[in-house]
Amino acid sequence: MRKIGVLTSGGDAPGMNAALRAVVRKAIYHGLAVVGFRRGYHGLVYGEYLEMQLGSVADIIHRGGTILLTARTPEFMERRGREQALQTIEKSGVDGLIVIGGDGSLRGADALEKLGVRTVVIPGTIDNDLACSDYSIGFDTAVYNVTDAINKVRDTATSHERVYVIEVMGRTSGHIALAAGLAGGAESILVPEVPFDLAEVCERLQRGVKRGKLHSIILVAEGAGGALNVGEEIKKRTKMETRVTILGHLQRGGTPTAFDRILASRLGAAAVDLLCSGSHGKMAAFRASELHAVSYDKVLAEKKEFSQELYRLATILAI
Ligand code: F6P
Repeated sequence: MRKIGVLTSGGDAPGMNAALRAVVRKAIYHGLAVVGFRRGYHGLVYGEYLEMQLGSVADIIHRGGTILLTARTPEFMERRGREQALQTIEKSGVDGLIVIGGDGSLRGADALEKLGVRTVVIPGTIDNDLACSDYSIGFDTAVYNVTDAINKVRDTATSHERVYVIEVMGRTSGHIALAAGLAGGAESILVPEVPFDLAEVCERLQRGVKRGKLHSIILVAEGAGGALNVGEEIKKRTKMETRVTILGHLQRGGTPTAFDRILASRLGAAAVDLLCSGSHGKMAAFRASELHAVSYDKVLAEKKEFSQELYRLATILAI
């Protein structure tokens, strides 16, 4: 291994920059050259890359987003796009590639592996929906952002005695909703992983009013049906004053938490070590406070566990 490539792909996640910094610095520490591909797989398909030095990643550990830019690249899903990517890899002279991203990015890395390219993935997605790692980079910051938003919305909810339905990201998963719902004391948390009955949600709301509750927060994961629908239904069924807030991309930006920076630094360094030791086709994972290497097949075969225990706890505490 003399030269490695790195890219960030899919939705940006706070801490991706800290991971880039760790990859570049650890690789240079080992005497490797580093190339950064821009805009995720787009950079591979269209040959957009740059040599990275120690200074290329200076002053970015605290910045959200990704200095390499990111994208979702449909062309890479096609044969021709992949052939172009192989040509770029050859031209750039990289012997291995580190991909920082979520499950679509991991599938891309898996496709490259099958074409003979040595790859390692670092889980980076606010959704935290990759199996085999307790955390992916960006999740902690997103949960912090959502919790902060709940606190703010709660001020208005209390003052106006309203129900607020807050939608958070998570196209197919409710990990952000669960963690932020528990941290923010939401009355109900609606997620795709747990079937819910709106009649029950309304009953809980009305029970709350009877015992003097002045406001309520309902947290809805994007993939659980949409806050606008939920808000409409609640208004219709309970006649309570209801407002809907969709947090959208606000929860994905901003300075990464210390947890995400530390996670990113450890996973970035571990990914370089994996490539250097000849291990590839693996995701650098963080489980039970330790670093692990997990094969793509295993990550793809498993579904990220949704903590029913935490969900029950959140429901009990918000009674
Ligand atoms: O995958 C991360 C994520 O933030 C999802 O939670 C969300 O559904 C999606 O990206 C939004 O993507 P875009 O940035 O394309 O709107």
